[in-house]
Amino acid sequence: MGRLEGKVVFLTGAGAGIAKATAKMCVREGAVVAICELNREAGERAEREIREAGGNALFVQADVTQDDSVRDAIAATVKHFGKLNVLFNCAGGSSQDDRPVHEMDLDVWHKTVALNLLHPFLTCRHGIPHMIKAGGGSIVNVTSHLGLVGSLKPAYAATKGGIISFTKTLAAQYVQYGIRANAVAPGSVRTERQIARYENKDFVEKPSAASREREVFQKLYPFSKGEPEDIAAIAVFLASDESRMLTGTTIAADGGRSSYLKVYAGED
Ligand SMILES: NC(=O)c1ccc[n+]([C@@H]2O[C@H](COP(=O)([O-])OP(=O)(O)OC[C@H]3O[C@@H](n4cnc5c(N)ncnc54)[C@H](O)[C@@H]3O)[C@@H](O)[C@H]2O)c1
Repeated sequence: MGRLEGKVVFLTGAGAGIAKATAKMCVREGAVVAICELNREAGERAEREIREAGGNALFVQADVTQDDSVRDAIAATVKHFGKLNVLFNCAGGSSQDDRPVHEMDLDVWHKTVALNLLHPFLTCRHGIPHMIKAGGGSIVNVTSHLGLVGSLKPAYAATKGGIISFTKTLAAQYVQYGIRANAVAPGSVRTERQIARYENKDFVEKPSAASREREVFQKLYPFSKGEPEDIAAIAVFLASDESRMLTGTTIAADGGRSSYLKVYAGED
């Protein structure tokens, strides 16, 4: 028996990266999955890959920043699979234009809030009634280590911090229905997008203060860079009954980045 046998899992942004890896792992653990994705090509590809491997997946195209779109995607999932047990709210990201507060375009703020914070609100708004009907379930939200410590990207950090307190509120509000809510806060994850950005042959970092800082950083936090499957494993754990004592918590999967500041020998 898989750890998610018979469960219906709805994953946002599952055409790529962490959510796609999580969808595949959920299927290996016995679940059926709804691939909620804006990009049709990516969503259909994920659906096809899962089906070709013998799993059961449904692509539902949606823009997670739009109320009607999320409502319809959840409705299509429940119509197809008959119920909903797990929400994995993963679509998200930051903008290159997420600049210091006094320089930031207001539109960047609103778009970041819509994608990272309005989105889990909308999936919960439309998904929770079905989870209540199912007698309980698990909500897994994806935040970031930058939601735990703050960063130089104000909109991203604020929305990811918001997810953490939103998760605690969901835990309090829905405990009576047998619904748990937790979050995972990744550090750096080698998704296709990250690899294309940082590991292609054109990305040659010139020696600079920043590159030297990065070298030191690697030594301080050698476990801080992971694969999508590292986060997927935590998501599956949070979705499954193995984590039945966890609700309202955030697991920092960041190799210690939000936990310690290591000073060099001789410093204090
Ligand atoms: N990759 C990392 O290093 C890292 C680190 C910390 C946190 N995170 C968080 O993890 C989550 C997933 O990151 P990733 O790197 O796997 O992302 P990704 O960019 O690889 O994939 C995101 C997917 O979401 C889809 N998407 C974007 N906007 C959408 C919308 N409006 N509606 C529906 N789908 C939409 C994209 O098309 C894409 O397929 C994000 O919330 C991100 O903030 C990632």
